Parts: sequence; C-alpha cells; structure tokens
Amino acid sequence: MKYDFDRVIDRRNTNSLKFDFACEFGKPEDALPLWVADMDFQAPIEVINALKETADHGIFGYSGHKEDYLQALHKWFRERFAWDFADETLVKAPGVVFAIANAVRACTQEGDSVLIQQPVYYPFAGVVRDNNRKLVINSLVRNGDSRNDISKNDTAQASVVDNDYSVDFAAFERQIVEEQVRLFILCSPHNPIGRVWSAEELRRMGEICLRHNVLIISDEIHADFVYRGNKHTIFPSLAPELAEITILCTAPSKTFNLAGLQVANIFISNSSLRQKFETEINRSGYSLLSVMGLRACQAAYEYGADWLDQLLDYLQGNLLWLEQFVRDEIPQITLIRPQGTYLVWLDFRRFMPDDNQRRKFMLDEAKIWLDDGPMFGTEGSGYERINIACPRSVLEQAMHQLKRAMENVSSHDLPLC
Ligand SMILES: Cc1ncc(COP(=O)(O)O)c(C=O)c1O
Repeated sequence: MKYDFDRVIDRRNTNSLKFDFACEFGKPEDALPLWVADMDFQAPIEVINALKETADHGIFGYSGHKEDYLQALHKWFRERFAWDFADETLVKAPGVVFAIANAVRACTQEGDSVLIQQPVYYPFAGVVRDNNRKLVINSLVRNGDSRNDISKNDTAQASVVDNDYSVDFAAFERQIVEEQVRLFILCSPHNPIGRVWSAEELRRMGEICLRHNVLIISDEIHADFVYRGNKHTIFPSLAPELAEITILCTAPSKTFNLAGLQVANIFISNSSLRQKFETEINRSGYSLLSVMGLRACQAAYEYGADWLDQLLDYLQGNLLWLEQFVRDEIPQITLIRPQGTYLVWLDFRRFMPDDNQRRKFMLDEAKIWLDDGPMFGTEGSGYERINIACPRSVLEQAMHQLKRAMENVSSHDLPLC
C-alpha cells in the first residue's frame, strides 16, 4: 500500500497541543506550528483498525499484555536493530519522561549529581531539578565553533553543514569525577541536534560511566528515525557490562505518531536495578497501561514496518528540500544536517543572534512557531528547532513565510539614500 504523506489533515479542534493551544502558550493564533515533536500524519492503517476494533467492542476495562505483544516487540527490535531482549527485562510505562523521572528517583538520592548533555530535550533538566538532584551539564560542542566568533557579517559560514556536534569526552569524564555524578541521561539519537551517535562514541561514554560507577538512562525514543548513511546502535547491545548499568527507554510514540496513547517500553537487564525502578513506579501508584495504547503499540510493531519505511523516504525528501531552500533562499542561516530524528537544528546567529528579538520575529513577522534554542539550555542560544514531520506543502509555506520576513528585516537594515 502506498501512503500519502502529502495529504494535509486539519488538526484544529482535535485538542492537539500543537494546533489548539496557541492562546494558552501565549502564542499568536495565526502562527504556523512546527514545534512540539509529534507528526501531522495519520498512523498506519493497521493501527487505526486495531483501535477501531477495540472501540467497537466498547468495553475498556483494566488490561495487560500477553505473549503476542511481546512477540511484536521482539520482531521489531530484532529486524530493525539486530537486538533482542529477555521478556522479564520489560517494564511498561505511560511515557518516556515518566520513566526517566522514576529512574532518577530510583537510582539517586536528593542532592546527587545527574549529568545531561545540552542542548538537549528540556524535560531532562526539568526532571532532574524537580526531583532536587544536582544538574551537571556536559555541553556538546560544535567542532571548530568557538561560540563568539560567529557574527552577522560572517559570510564564510556555509548555509548547510554536516552535523559537526560531538562529545567533549575529557570534560565528560572530568565532570563525572569532580561532581561525583551518579547517573547520566543519554539522548540517542539526540534531540535537538540530530546526532546519531556512533557505536564508538557510545562505547566511550559507556566505558567512562563503567569506570566511575555511573548508571545510564538511554532515551532512544527517536531510534527509528535515522537518515541514509547512519546507523542507530541500541546502547545495551554494545556489551553485557554496559547493559547491566543501563535503563533503556523506547516507545512507539514518536515512530508511529502515538504520543497521545501513552505507551513506553523500558528494558532493564539488571534485576536489582529493575526492581528498584518498579518499586518507584509502584510508589507513584501507577500500574496499568491503557487498552488503546497496548493495542496500538502491538499493531504498530507487527504491521508498521512498510509505513515507516515510506515515511522515512518522505522525511528524507523534506530534509533535502529544506536544505536546498536554505542554501538557495536564506543562506544567512545555517542548517546543521541531522543524522536522525525529524527535528532540524537551525543556527540563526549570523542573521539574528538575539534570542528575545528572534522569538518575537518568528512569531510576529514570520508567523511560524518553532521551539527556540534556549529552551534546550544556554547552549541553544541563537538556534531554533523546526519539526519537519509535516506535509511538504506545509514546510514550504513555513519557509516561504520565513524568507519573506527575513527579506523585510534585511531591507529595513539597508542604509537610506
Ligand atoms: C528525547 C525525547 N524523550 C522523550 C520524549 C517524550 O516522551 P514521552 O511522551 O513518552 O514522555 C520526547 C518527545 O519529544 C523526546 O524528544
């Protein structure tokens, strides 16, 4: 079956966070939303049918998973990642952020240090702070970029660059030792910068953690979105001793656009770590996933491979289109080519480095609603994150609006004669 990702589906008046809550978020109603990480595409038809069948049955009592759910997960991870899990290592959770919060409480005490790598998905910092743990930030670095040498007049900077972010391993180890870090929250692939970490990079981070008794939460929610030429490595597949210190967070929610159904599959090989995690979840009073979430997850992993392959081709097309547009039409910004995820990290420092000015410009002039860089930490200052998981026509509209607004700024800047 051929899926039509070009089809524009009106999401307004569906309680969509992205489309129906501009007012609550203090944003203009007419700003085109390309911010929160869900997609404007329908889920695979098999998922929709499974949900319809459940709805038609009409009884929505307490539900659990059976062998067929596990088989769907085994098939997915084996076929897509050449990785498999032992059944008893699975713990289900209503979301990855929920799992991370519980893992932070299970693995650390108040006041303990937890390391994250900014710029990064903002709930990481929130969860650490809200649980009264100490946040240690190992900033990711762009090779060759000493942040202050980018200026408005810098024309040498290319408008599209290969992803040049990397981990400062020396700082990573030094911070772990100096701050007595107990837990590291890894984002793999990394949101918002779009890195798909190589096995070598992951191993190096893992070995440092092993050396200093640091536990790892590996958030791999974006694992299914990897562009050609890149390969995602499931962190615990690297070595049994790394699996022993890792809480692996996965979910079908990004992959199949099921975030509103609240399912995450967490894998913990180490039985005592798993027990602590489960105890923490029990302590919060949570026990069972929703019947709709379970059905959708199983159907997606059973039947969704072809849909996902077509979607990946479509997203690759969106990305190529965007790169061309940036190169030809708005070369004053720099697109950092993502290796994975449907999120693209744009460097606006040459065009409009001031964050407050740019935030206003995006919403009021360009009339597009992106996630602005500082949300991801101070390392994101000067950047914007755009979500390209939308029909191409929507992406085109957004970028043309941006271009027009940028031209207006440029013409204002021209000296009067
Ligand atoms: C890295 C990362 N982790 C977790 C989530 C959210 O997961 P959940 O909705 O399951 O809490 C997101 C959503 O954007 C994400 O980018």
